[in-house]
Amino acid sequence: MRQVTDIAQIREFLSGFPDIFLVYDRNLARLASSVEGVCLATKAIDATEADKTMDSVLEICRWLLKLGADRGATLVALGGGITTDICGFAASVYKRGIRFGFIPTTLLAQVDAALGGKNGVNLDGYKNMIGVIREPAFTLICPALLSTLPDREWRGGTAELLKSFIIDNTGGHYEEAVDALRHSRACEPRHSRACPGNLILAAAAVKERIVAADLYEQGERRKLNLGHTFAHAIERRARLAGLDISHGEAVAEGIILAARVSERLSLAPAGLEERLRRDWEAVGLPADSPFPPAVLAADMAKDKKADGEKVHFVLIRAIGDVVTVPLTVTEVLDLL
Ligand code: GLY
Repeated sequence: MRQVTDIAQIREFLSGFPDIFLVYDRNLARLASSVEGVCLATKAIDATEADKTMDSVLEICRWLLKLGADRGATLVALGGGITTDICGFAASVYKRGIRFGFIPTTLLAQVDAALGGKNGVNLDGYKNMIGVIREPAFTLICPALLSTLPDREWRGGTAELLKSFIIDNTGGHYEEAVDALRHSRACEPRHSRACPGNLILAAAAVKERIVAADLYEQGERRKLNLGHTFAHAIERRARLAGLDISHGEAVAEGIILAARVSERLSLAPAGLEERLRRDWEAVGLPADSPFPPAVLAADMAKDKKADGEKVHFVLIRAIGDVVTVPLTVTEVLDLL
């Protein structure tokens, strides 16, 4: 991960690579045009969850092939986590793997999706069911790109930001982030939205540190899934029910459920769920899943982090101290 402050620095960095093929989220045409001068070719893609499929991966591979991209090419993704996932996957399989880099343009992608090397697409409605683990050559973090992010997307990203600090609160960043986010909500209009760049970089650094210790998710990295077993089930149920719940919102609701299970197992002191609920309220995140736990059960059992009957649930002992506990879905349901 490398911090850059503006488009000029992004351009300067990219100009160090010979053959750049830039793929960007169609909504970012203006931003893309400001870097296309240092690219060999550019391509807009649709970047909705429904587009996160093998078809999109193949479309990019065909584009690269048609333009004669060889193994010296660099595929650069400009956009949110959907764009970076599709491109990371395409670059990993095109000619058995070419270099790729990310310029994430959402908070969620800057602190989570564009880091860590997992590049996956959805299959039959199940998220990230096929993919590869391969790290980008670079991820350029430019907090200034977030100033025009729609509010709801911004808030979704704050769920992953706070998740990072619940996992690792070195330096008290959790409290600092809740304060900054509460303050920025109170200070609309949006230009005063102040999640200082240092917090974004600190959250990204938490992820990078954990991934560096356990790229293939044999232990430590599982902690990054805090709230996600619940969240993936919430997202799937929402899609089936035609409800609009974003990934970040589902993660926020999933973390609250993880806190409840943690308390009921006496892993966390009483009051943790209440504290998180207050913080979520202050920063504008939803706390309650619209689905009762029993409705989420079948999808949780299908979670790809499942190991036989048990699912690796990430539970919270305290802010900055989480632990992975293998539990069956039935055991978790009994606790909720
Ligand atoms: N690309 C997301 C991750 O590796 O966690």
